[in-house]
Amino acid sequence: MNFRELAEKTESYIIEQRRFFHACPELSMQEKETTKAIIAQLEAMGLEVKTFDGYYGCMADIVGGQPGKMVALRADIDALPIKEETGLPYASKNEGCMHACGHDCHISMLLGAAKMLTENKDKLKGTVRLIFQPSEEAGSYDGAAALIDQGVLDGVDAIYGAHIWNVLEAPYVNIESGNRMASTAEFHVEIEGLSTHGSSPEAGIDAIVVMSAIIMNLQTFVSRNNSPLNPLVVSVGKVEAGSRWNVIAGKAKFEGTVRTFSPALLEEAPKAIARIVENTAAAYGATAKLSSFEWMVIPVINSDEKLVKIGQEAVKKMYGEETLKPMITQMGGEDFSYYMRKVPGVFAFIGSHNPETGKIYSNHHEKYDVDEEVLKRGAAVYAQFAYDFLDQE
Ligand code: NI
Repeated sequence: MNFRELAEKTESYIIEQRRFFHACPELSMQEKETTKAIIAQLEAMGLEVKTFDGYYGCMADIVGGQPGKMVALRADIDALPIKEETGLPYASKNEGCMHACGHDCHISMLLGAAKMLTENKDKLKGTVRLIFQPSEEAGSYDGAAALIDQGVLDGVDAIYGAHIWNVLEAPYVNIESGNRMASTAEFHVEIEGLSTHGSSPEAGIDAIVVMSAIIMNLQTFVSRNNSPLNPLVVSVGKVEAGSRWNVIAGKAKFEGTVRTFSPALLEEAPKAIARIVENTAAAYGATAKLSSFEWMVIPVINSDEKLVKIGQEAVKKMYGEETLKPMITQMGGEDFSYYMRKVPGVFAFIGSHNPETGKIYSNHHEKYDVDEEVLKRGAAVYAQFAYDFLDQE
């Protein structure tokens, strides 16, 4: 079977669904209406839907006409606390919440795949499990890990997941072996100085200056302590200090993230950051501490060559070899890694960057939007991967 043409026929449905979900995004752990709408679509396809205890999201099995193995397809469904600035006619109606990571596309592509697979289930040699996962953005137990504990992988022989990705040009698809997405940590730092009048710095210890020095010094962990051959990112995403223009701040705090693939750094990174934080502060006569450091997700690594091949062949057979494009490792995090730790899995990227139509903003940007032309491809790859995996087993 080749899903290319079927996907063309399903395209209007996929785009309609994408726009619907784009307009009503919900944050992690709040995906109530999103889940309801997904269930309605799946039930309309005649599927029996299962929900989870204490979590939104749902799953459904497409039981094929012939016996065989079980392959799972996963889409994450949550949105981000970002105020949308796209000006799209179907922009978010939920103020301050936006599908800025394309999970609306994931929902619609998987619904499109579900439709194609359901219509052809007699030809399926086994079962396709659809997993609509909540709370991916939270980067905590509440996403993939929670669903695994509720049995979503029971009986599953392989799993495929994909992310629509604005780093990769449309309409390329990336499926390759090796490191794909990084381990992700969140950390918090607190600084204690001494507040004083803005005109008398000698009477205080300026927490803002201390914080600035710490933030600059943290980059030496990446550039001077770490091998240039070892991917590592330390980014500070939020700072908080001060009360007024003429008051020297006595306290400051900031938070950031660390990304790596290195098992050694899982232990070393928090130690190195604590060392830089404490000693930089001491140099200024202040005190500071790394108040928390937590690894949130493990890395996504495509290590199953057979599944990588099935994915690549699926793309080749539908869209030609030229559609497959290599892409460097991404330092973003993805809790899809938890599924891969339990069962063989593969993770792909669907390119959606298109300067010609202004789709140039990266995932998580307030003007993020995708080239909708690629949605049918994403849906087709979901379906083709599932079909081919079952066919070969
Ligand atoms: Ni995402």
